[in-house]
Amino acid sequence: MKVVSVVSAKGGVGKTTIAANLAAVLAAQGRHVVAVDLDPQNSLRLYFGVPLDSVDGLSRAALTGAPWQSAIVDGTGGVLVLAFGALIEEEQHLFERHLDEDPRWLARGLDALHLGDPDIVIVDTPPGSSAYTRAALTAAHFAVNVVLADAASYAAIPQMQRMIDAYAAPRPEFRGEGYVVNQVDQTRQLNKDVLRVLRDMLGDHMFPGVVHDDEGVSESLACNTTVVRYDPMCQACADMQAFGKWLLAALEAPGLARRSVA
Ligand SMILES: Nc1ncnc2c1ncn2[C@@H]1O[C@H](COP(=O)(O)OP(=O)(O)O)[C@@H](O)[C@H]1O
Ligand SMILES: [Mg+2]
Repeated sequence: MKVVSVVSAKGGVGKTTIAANLAAVLAAQGRHVVAVDLDPQNSLRLYFGVPLDSVDGLSRAALTGAPWQSAIVDGTGGVLVLAFGALIEEEQHLFERHLDEDPRWLARGLDALHLGDPDIVIVDTPPGSSAYTRAALTAAHFAVNVVLADAASYAAIPQMQRMIDAYAAPRPEFRGEGYVVNQVDQTRQLNKDVLRVLRDMLGDHMFPGVVHDDEGVSESLACNTTVVRYDPMCQACADMQAFGKWLLAALEAPGLARRSVA
């Protein structure tokens, strides 16, 4: 089993979109994929046809002591989905305290699923520093950092690098981190300029392609599915396929050298 945690310092950059589509792409290639939502927004499930009124998930299992298997549902496209679950505010605080006190809880729970060697777990997270992202990085074999080609994303990169350095990098099983630039519009000069700067800064750690800004992505969510199922011919779908291929190669590579913190 390889755990891929999808993170970013900033919100609204496409973490959930990338996590869901990555899971769909890898499952379509015949991989056994579990999509795990560690974001209280509980929105990853929406890409896989899990009903809106469903309250079950990881957090509820944690609070009730129920086995995680009981909260895993068959999502569309063959992806197994472990939703965050619906909690009232007090329960959420309890769960966060639990994660703070035991950051390896997620890693242990995933190990206890006894998944096969080639199986992939994709973990979606909320933005920035939180008990959730710490737990996701503590369980990760690989961290995917989603950024936009803008100045705010660029400026926030060192913040996430410090978290990766603190919670993921010290573990021998951690393979490295990769960057994917999302919502790129090649007609914008600023996007092209920031992309060039990012490539210089991140080198091999950056997916050499990009995920383009594509209205099929938002339409697919409105239809409760991933873009790779909604419009297999669209640009974003081709981008996600290419990113999935790059990620699998990175996971199987002997280990990307650690980049230095900017
Ligand atoms: N490549 C893309 N093209 C067009 N819209 C996108 C793209 N990626 C994300 N979006 C849209 O941007 C919004 C935020 O994406 P989301 O995945 O929820 O971000 P995050 O999980 O980082 O908060 C959503 O409305 C989503 O549909
Ligand atoms: Mg999200």
